[in-house]
Amino acid sequence: IRDDADTVADYVAEYIKARILQFAPTARRPFVIGLPTGSSPIGVYKRLVAFCADGSLSFKHVVSFNMDEYVGLPRDHPESYHSFMWHHLFKHIDIQPENVNILDGNAPDLQAECEKYEAKIQSYGGIELFLGGIGPDGHIAFNEPGSSLSSRTRVKTLAYETILANARFFGGDVAKVPMLALTVGVGTVMDAREVVVIITGASKANALAKCIEEGVNHMWTVSAIQTHSRSLVVCDDDATLEL
Ligand code: GLP
Repeated sequence: IRDDADTVADYVAEYIKARILQFAPTARRPFVIGLPTGSSPIGVYKRLVAFCADGSLSFKHVVSFNMDEYVGLPRDHPESYHSFMWHHLFKHIDIQPENVNILDGNAPDLQAECEKYEAKIQSYGGIELFLGGIGPDGHIAFNEPGSSLSSRTRVKTLAYETILANARFFGGDVAKVPMLALTVGVGTVMDAREVVVIITGASKANALAKCIEEGVNHMWTVSAIQTHSRSLVVCDDDATLEL
């Protein structure tokens, strides 16, 4: 628990930096990181960019897999997760573009796209560290309430609460928010050797309480981290209101 979103971002950015620096990459085994979108990780990305700028961190041997992407939104749409990731992180760091993996929400065969993504993660020997945020309904990635806790990458219909929560990015217009997304599954996230989740703000307080103080439950999908042997929740004071 940290005081506020800024100190949460400080902690998580330092943590990720240390994990990348500790890791001894080889040509066949780079550091594989899973990354989220949303407002929660923006402060972390800012700090990682600053570390790269001052030379204390490099992403040369890092391969990334993003959690999710909207279906049917053009890749260059300002609210696509492709745009988000390049804008907030990738274009400012030395990651090799071919090492960036983001689901293609415009693939002609969405199911095949999801299977290919899972296979590619496996081809690197899995994900070392999966960073995540959560929705106010306790979803991780786009694993909405009711998702199987062993789910894999797939097409998902967004819950109305999520569409409402994300309408702020689409000029407040609920009708403009895509109704479908591609998302890694809860099982995909839990397969990572380590899971780090950022939870900040009073709007997430109920979800934090459900996820860590109640039972593991597919209606609050991030609660699956209770079963992970190496998981870390980094939250601010406001998010702890219901604990
Ligand atoms: C979307 C993303 C999630 C993210 C959530 C929370 O639903 N698919 O991965 O955790 O937004 O976003 P924010 O951090 O803006 O609250």
